[in-house]
Amino acid sequence: MRVLNIGIIGYGGFGKFLHNSWMQLDNVHVVAIADINSDALKVPTSVKAFTDWRTLLLEKDIDAVAIVTEPSTHEEIAMACMEAGKHVLIEKPLAIALSAAENIIQARDRTGTVAAIDFIMRFNPLLQVIKGFTQAEIFGKLRRVDVENYAQDEQLPPEHWFWDSERSGGILIEHAVHFIDLVHFFAPAKILNVNGLKHNRNLQQEDQIIANVLYEGGLIATHYHSFARPGFFEITKIKLAYDLADIELQGWIPLGGTLKALVNPQTKETLLASPFFECSNDIAIENASDESRPEGWGVSNINGSFSPNTIRSGGIAYEANEILTGKFQMNQSKQEVYADCVRASLLDVLKKIENPGHELAACLETGSESLKVAILATASARNIA
Ligand SMILES: NC(=O)c1ccc[n+]([C@@H]2O[C@H](COP(=O)([O-])OP(=O)(O)OC[C@H]3O[C@@H](n4cnc5c(N)ncnc54)[C@H](O)[C@@H]3O)[C@@H](O)[C@H]2O)c1
Repeated sequence: MRVLNIGIIGYGGFGKFLHNSWMQLDNVHVVAIADINSDALKVPTSVKAFTDWRTLLLEKDIDAVAIVTEPSTHEEIAMACMEAGKHVLIEKPLAIALSAAENIIQARDRTGTVAAIDFIMRFNPLLQVIKGFTQAEIFGKLRRVDVENYAQDEQLPPEHWFWDSERSGGILIEHAVHFIDLVHFFAPAKILNVNGLKHNRNLQQEDQIIANVLYEGGLIATHYHSFARPGFFEITKIKLAYDLADIELQGWIPLGGTLKALVNPQTKETLLASPFFECSNDIAIENASDESRPEGWGVSNINGSFSPNTIRSGGIAYEANEILTGKFQMNQSKQEVYADCVRASLLDVLKKIENPGHELAACLETGSESLKVAILATASARNIA
């Protein structure tokens, strides 16, 4: 097994988490770190430490570099890394402007290096299962994704780079790109229309923002993000409405969720075979009450014959004979799943280095696509579209 030497540029909160998580990998050695802030480098570690990231790039034994600095710096650092022959794993967002994302993609193509974006959600086993269900359409078509995310801002004082649009791009670009990409992961489709709304607490702090996205085929996604509450109220809900099911995932690193679905014998079998699903109730359709019409409501005169097991949704006739409820649950902590995801994300880059035919789970184009949505929605929210 080939061992790869890694450098980390940007050794703040997340850079340190990556380092700690990657230390458990046998085929990865973090050999150098760089941070403009020398205090960030004052940690007990045997790796080489630099205050100028350009010096790190002179280290000949470094194969790949993780870029974990604030978003506005990603373009310059990523391009220099690739020009120096280093493979890169770039933190989200890929950049804060589409022209910068394009420059990064061109540098990858010019240098022939491996370059990926750290969309860790793509490595979450539960989300991979939901993606499988979505693409196999076992619940019919996905019509709606509604992300509701209340995050704490106690650790984000007004002078933090997060609030500076020139450095972060704003909440949709810095943060929501994860969730926008999740929609693209579940159900890739052409983007037809994007708009947004926002609220400013003061001139500097744009603390609530919404993006609405319409995709070809009829999927409408809404991303609401607020950085305005104490940590105790930090909540993320990802609601997925399919023709035949409602799923609600909880947590920004989702570990579980709930499901209500209309199933037939085949789709029920698929669901029950899922590693994380536990059924709590199943009931034959003829015994279930449909409360969309109160008792006493007359029956409309609709032409055509209906079988009791034919369910019409979104203009499509599906076969279903039961309503099933249950929950998804991974039996791991958030910490374990998060660390597993960042390990899997790096290992995917290593796989591509060893086998150029390997298809990256999160290539730069995915980073550019979610960035495009975030930029359009931000511009619409700020009335500068
Ligand atoms: N994939 C994820 O789940 C995830 C989670 C958190 C953060 N992130 C991303 O990671 C990046 C960093 O976020 P963070 O929370 O660690 O921020 P942070 O502020 O805690 O750390 C950033 C570090 O980069 C350093 N830095 C800034 N400019 C530099 C430069 N030119 N040269 C060298 N060092 C420089 C800063 O001194 C700081 O120590 C952001 O892009 C963020 O969106 C991703």
